[in-house]
Amino acid sequence: MEAQIDYSQLIPNNVGLSSDRKLQRALESWHPKFMNWWQTNGPDSYQENEVYLRTAVSVDKKGWAHFGPVKMPDYRWGIFLAESHEQDKRIKFGEHQGEKVWQEVPAEYRAPLRRLIVTQGDTEPASVEQQRILAATAPSLVDMRNLFQVNVEEARHLWAMVYLLMAHFGRDGREEAEELLQRSSGDPDKPRILGAFNEQTPDWLSFYMFTYFTDRDGKYQLASLTESAFDPLARTCQFMLTEEAHHMHVGETGVARIIQKACDIMNQYKTDDVRRHGGIDLPTLQKYVNFHFSVSEDLFGAEISTNAANYYTQGLKGRYQENRIKDDHRLKDEPYEVSTFRDQKIAKEEVSALTSINERLRDDYIEDCQRGVNRWNKLIKDAGIEFEIKLPHRAFHRQIGTFSSACVAPDGSVISSDQWEEKKLEWLPSQQDHEYVKSLMVQVTEPGKFASWIAAPRIGINSQAIDYEYVRL
Ligand SMILES: [Fe+2]
Ligand SMILES: [Fe+2]
Repeated sequence: MEAQIDYSQLIPNNVGLSSDRKLQRALESWHPKFMNWWQTNGPDSYQENEVYLRTAVSVDKKGWAHFGPVKMPDYRWGIFLAESHEQDKRIKFGEHQGEKVWQEVPAEYRAPLRRLIVTQGDTEPASVEQQRILAATAPSLVDMRNLFQVNVEEARHLWAMVYLLMAHFGRDGREEAEELLQRSSGDPDKPRILGAFNEQTPDWLSFYMFTYFTDRDGKYQLASLTESAFDPLARTCQFMLTEEAHHMHVGETGVARIIQKACDIMNQYKTDDVRRHGGIDLPTLQKYVNFHFSVSEDLFGAEISTNAANYYTQGLKGRYQENRIKDDHRLKDEPYEVSTFRDQKIAKEEVSALTSINERLRDDYIEDCQRGVNRWNKLIKDAGIEFEIKLPHRAFHRQIGTFSSACVAPDGSVISSDQWEEKKLEWLPSQQDHEYVKSLMVQVTEPGKFASWIAAPRIGINSQAIDYEYVRL
């Protein structure tokens, strides 16, 4: 295992691919199919334009990225595992706690591990497909570049999962790798596995909300897989997290710039009518927060889950930062408090920590979401405007788990289904909101210029100027 990545090969890697001819051949025969998928399902147009992209050159912490103009099809998708720093790495949790981590898949866990890897792998190309048409309405070249950067990295995450499938699951793995390219977001016959990944990302407000809220679900799923007893999976996910951090940064700063523009308009024109001046008003932004936060919460699954409990006990998937949690890491008798919906009331209940693993991860996620929301609110406050963006109550607008049968307002009060029908368009984006946001989506391609609804970023990419030609058209 080396920190440095070998770029002399068709498939850049730091896993010593050239010494495993069989695996190398399998991956090389998948390569043209992947390229075909990228051309047909990846970003629409702009495949022949040079984009200022960063490429991973090393998996160590310092200076792992290189920036330069690249045509997207020439991006070097590769296979990178984080370095192993522990000499004698041991399993941290579950019934195998204390045993050596596994370098090969134990026969008894083949099926669940395969399912975990395929489910994670399926989301990666799905998000590229969801965002396929966005470049046509990019609000600036920087934004277009950020979109493409996220897209090539999600495609690399697909490579990461395909590597694991092919290296460790034999013929089954090769078949799964094919199917990852055959399913397609929103396809009625062969949809992506998770519902949320079959919705199109229709506009840039949704894109930024998606990268803030939904990529953050990805962060927590990956972080719990970095705890896995199956070491190649753990180290693969570790490196993916560094890329995921960038996607969430794109989301957070994107939303921040939309907020900034709304505040600038309010102050400049001394008005609340942000729409009149081509901005996205804060109440509309709040509705998008309500929507994207609630659908992303659903991705964590049901509060009580025996599947999640089994994954944990088997050592396949841990909790967020397992090391930092002070308990026995087996959870046979540990309690955990979860919110439940019973007799039309939301109540707290003490349940087994083992069966409530999903809920605990969702708790960590919500806390993390709140931190960025606080930074957005500081921007609003600093602009002298009275408005606070709030994450809705966890029971609001849920489709999965205990709250899926509940009608709950953003403030957490339980309401009747009639009240819900009456009020929901005050809380979630309406057809008119969507149409308004859509009407703002016009492509801006002059370097240094931005669409009416978003402020310029504070700094350019990799210390380049704001008006650098991030995509050469
Ligand atoms: Fe990803
Ligand atoms: Fe991502």
